[in-house]
Amino acid sequence: MKDPPIASSPENASVLRPDFHWGFATAAAQVEGAWNADGKGESIWDKFSRIPGKIIDGSTNADATRAYDLYKADVQLLKKLGVNSYRFSLAWSRIIPLGGKDDPVNEAGLNYYSNLVDELLANDITSFVTLFHWDTPQALEDRYGGMLDQARYIADFERYARVCFTALGDRVKHWITYNEPGVYTLAGYAAGVHAPGRSSLPGRDDPGDSSTEPFIVAHTELVSHAHAVKIYREEFKPTQKGVIGITLHGNFSAPWDEDDPKDVEAAERALQFEIGWFADPVYGSGDYPACMREQLGDRLPHFTPEEKALVQGSSDFYGMNSYTTLYVRHRDQPADINDHKGNITSHDTNKAGVSRGAESATAWLRSNPAGFLSLLHWIWNRYHTPIYITENGTTAKGEEDWDPTSGFWLDDTFRQDFFEGYIGAVADAVRNGVDIRSYFAWTFTDNWEWAAGFTDRFGGSWVDFESSEKTRYPKKSAFELGRIFEHLIR
Ligand code: NOJ
Repeated sequence: MKDPPIASSPENASVLRPDFHWGFATAAAQVEGAWNADGKGESIWDKFSRIPGKIIDGSTNADATRAYDLYKADVQLLKKLGVNSYRFSLAWSRIIPLGGKDDPVNEAGLNYYSNLVDELLANDITSFVTLFHWDTPQALEDRYGGMLDQARYIADFERYARVCFTALGDRVKHWITYNEPGVYTLAGYAAGVHAPGRSSLPGRDDPGDSSTEPFIVAHTELVSHAHAVKIYREEFKPTQKGVIGITLHGNFSAPWDEDDPKDVEAAERALQFEIGWFADPVYGSGDYPACMREQLGDRLPHFTPEEKALVQGSSDFYGMNSYTTLYVRHRDQPADINDHKGNITSHDTNKAGVSRGAESATAWLRSNPAGFLSLLHWIWNRYHTPIYITENGTTAKGEEDWDPTSGFWLDDTFRQDFFEGYIGAVADAVRNGVDIRSYFAWTFTDNWEWAAGFTDRFGGSWVDFESSEKTRYPKKSAFELGRIFEHLIR
């Protein structure tokens, strides 16, 4: 993998389109807090985070960064940082507390989002809105098992989407149906370390079947996404004129031994299991990748002809979340019944001992701009769809110990280098002809990182979680981002 030029190198100057969107991304359950304020219903994460032992530091997301109360100050901070766009998600159970198609809408919840969109607009910041970022209403889980019941779930999701388009679509022109459906299914229904915490892995005594449920849930996500898109395109797009799509997670996978054809194949298989699982049905063949069918047989659901027609082409853009690169090795043994990754093992170093990147404060995340560049090319070559980068970012070692009373900025050089490298890769890919239209750094402020609680600080601003106001202190990298994009956008 060759190193891409860094963002500030002269050949990359002014390479991005004038209407390029850049800013920060967040998710409702990670920032809002106010988990039951003003009529909000419970989500599966509200419930899951209260179960002892599920969250590393024993925290819940009941308060998070209090973005629900502090949104006006947050928009001022975004403005100060110079962003032109902001990506956030809607909490379904804030809008329809019980979630279902016949359940009442909570006007106070809708008003919150409407006010947030207005506040952003008044400050010239474009909203990118995600309908689903993992916080299924608990009531739907209790009623019929949530996404395990495809027919009932789709009807409820359709209604929720319609309510959102109706209330916000006059001002919101960029919609994302699902955030990282693959991570939601694998962490929630295979490993069971995320809500709703279902897992049949050895040693677990939770309900669930890790060998089938993740694939069923993924199928539900894909088909319900496509239904929401159909509704938007038929009922709203003609007047509202926005775009709609899905955001997928993907790491780059490189062969552990570049000279071993089996490792080369394994790396490609890893990409297809992780990304192709969702992207092939939407942007490609309209069906799951052949290597998945081969390994999983009928444990992988089949698209009916109607579903296939609905899902294929159901995204105006490729929403891309990516963080890191893995070295991948083939296995000689047959795949395990609980394997969801293409019968591979992944490694921190390759055969030659080269590391997969510089270490962040998070075990799974190492910085590797060259891998990111390769991934941009892989996605572009396979799907030929304009790419919105909807998340990319990192933690950095030692930030938990930073002293906000020090009087100095938090000089997060690791994150600054990360952004220079990764955005340099974006610029390089664009120069090579890849159509990239946005970059959202994950994340706006330090927040509640799911099962990692408050221990992983991905923010562009450091948050004092001890303070009642959850005071935000911008890190140097947050300003550096503005400098990079000022230089790169025509
Ligand atoms: C992707 C997810 O969308 C987001 O919620 C999460 O916090 C980041 N990855 C970092 O793990």
